[in-house]
Amino acid sequence: MCGIVAYLGKKEAFPILIKGLQRLEYRGYDSAGVALFNGDLHVYKKKGKVQDLLDFTDEKNTDGTIGIGHTRWATHGKPDDLNAHPHTSSNGRLVLVHNGIIENYATLKAALEKLGHTFKSQTDTEVLVHLIEELQEREGLPIGEAVRLALTKVIGAYAIVVMDRKDPNTLVAARKQSPLVVGIGRDEFLLASDATPIIEHTKQVIYLNDSEIAVVRRNGSYEIRNIMENQIQDPFIQQLELEIEALEKGGFDYFMLKEIHEQPKTIADCMRGRMNADEGWIRLGGLEEYTNRLVNAQRLLIVACGTSWHAGLVAEYLFEELARIPVEVEYASEFRYRNPVITDKDVVIAISQSGETADTLAAIELAKEYGALVYGIVNSVGSSIARTSHAGSYIHAGPEIGVASTKAFTGQVTLLTMMALSLGFKRGYIPKSRMQLLLRELEQVPQKIEQVLKVNEQCRYISSEIKDFHNALYLGRGFNFPVALEGALKLKEISYIHAEGYPAAEMKHGPIALIDENMPVIVICTNKSAYEKIVSNIQEVKARKGQVIAIVNEGDTHIRSMADYVIEIPDTDELFTPLLSVIPLQLLSYHIAVMRGCNVDQPRNLAKSVTVE
Ligand code: AGP
Repeated sequence: MCGIVAYLGKKEAFPILIKGLQRLEYRGYDSAGVALFNGDLHVYKKKGKVQDLLDFTDEKNTDGTIGIGHTRWATHGKPDDLNAHPHTSSNGRLVLVHNGIIENYATLKAALEKLGHTFKSQTDTEVLVHLIEELQEREGLPIGEAVRLALTKVIGAYAIVVMDRKDPNTLVAARKQSPLVVGIGRDEFLLASDATPIIEHTKQVIYLNDSEIAVVRRNGSYEIRNIMENQIQDPFIQQLELEIEALEKGGFDYFMLKEIHEQPKTIADCMRGRMNADEGWIRLGGLEEYTNRLVNAQRLLIVACGTSWHAGLVAEYLFEELARIPVEVEYASEFRYRNPVITDKDVVIAISQSGETADTLAAIELAKEYGALVYGIVNSVGSSIARTSHAGSYIHAGPEIGVASTKAFTGQVTLLTMMALSLGFKRGYIPKSRMQLLLRELEQVPQKIEQVLKVNEQCRYISSEIKDFHNALYLGRGFNFPVALEGALKLKEISYIHAEGYPAAEMKHGPIALIDENMPVIVICTNKSAYEKIVSNIQEVKARKGQVIAIVNEGDTHIRSMADYVIEIPDTDELFTPLLSVIPLQLLSYHIAVMRGCNVDQPRNLAKSVTVE
């Protein structure tokens, strides 16, 4: 899921492109490149990070007030200088950057090779710039029309920006499935995969809709058309609410650590104005609009990927417990191809931090085809899932830059908790007095997380003890089983240690065979309802010499007498324990990864939003 950025205006483009690519680097960091025009076309691209590109362009001609840039997450063709973007047409006239996958590139390539085109890279993208070149030359078309016509022949996902050296006062951009934002500045335009490179230049943006193409010109004029029908579209200009500070590390070594420490505030922001404990109410804008459909839904289908799927799993426990409504939690990638049974009495809840995850988007489209109501739970404002869902709620966690999701997870769980409480109340399963009690306890969660964050040093110490193990097991029961999965995912994705999360009781049905003195076992023991069961699980692990790291409620001396390491967290209602018990797991994975010298914010092979299948 690459990051693309482009600039057209009066300022020098190069520094703006580089800053933009650094902001987008969480989307992919296999290679980076820029193309600039200053009477001549200069293309610079390099395997590795944006910094490698910066070093490579030192002493080179990087002048010009028009340019395009790219940071890559490799799909077709390995990370190297040749496969890096931008890609150039054979006549050297056109350059293009692309985020997405051209699914029919092989067919197009074969046809173009028959017409004498030769290709330098293994990428699908290079085929696209040759196709535009072919149509432009054959039909003598202006760049905008050549790009549009070419895209009518393309199958797949794309966000692209194209520059034509014979028309250096114009940039052409288009999108289908992959996100693209147009920033309208004073005498300048910025185009980018998301708003982060645009915010410091202008707050006026247009989120391109699917299958739209934009042509922007140096004289300040621009037009947006739909690709297939070639009709002019009325642009919907939005004001960005994002603040630049939110994109800085704020003195932390890594965005992930900053985002872990932001959670007391982000959870409070997620609750603000949406609940009142004294009066015992919860109000979620999107939910109010579709109350009847939600309250009378026959089933909730939750679709998501990765960490968002774990939040969905916590929600399954919450909705069934509080609202007595059947819930199924689906991996979006499986759901969309499984031919699932969906009816218009179902409500589909789509959970996504980025709001751009391709599989979740496709699952939404499928649900809509069957008439189900789609409720989006999203962090990124203006993202595709937010715009394509029938209704929804933002979690207000602010930009999440670290690839490993942390504050978005607790934001999603907080939002889903409020939704479950609201539905439970509306369906008559929660009397007002209990609602008030639970809301008072939920209101305490941000301050309790402040307390949990005080275990940071202890987590750093335990991490130094277990950082060299090659495997780890995470165990939890009930609401904390999904948290065990989430803890394992965090460790896997940033420290590259193989880890698995399991329902604690499931351990005896296989994973216990893995346990010996080299297996750290992180056990979440905060559930009152299954306390004795968890104690037995710890004894089973200790009987096989496993190293036990136990997350316990404050003052729990019983487990302290059995475990090798104990991390205490404040007590809360069992319903809300995932919001507290996940924090030490985030910190453990963070410190272990740092101690193993891993790039915590940009782990290998990963990207922040997965916009291709
Ligand atoms: C989590 O740390 C990962 N970044 C990844 O699993 C992520 O949760 C998944 O790709 C889903 O992303 P989304 O929430 O933006 O849809």
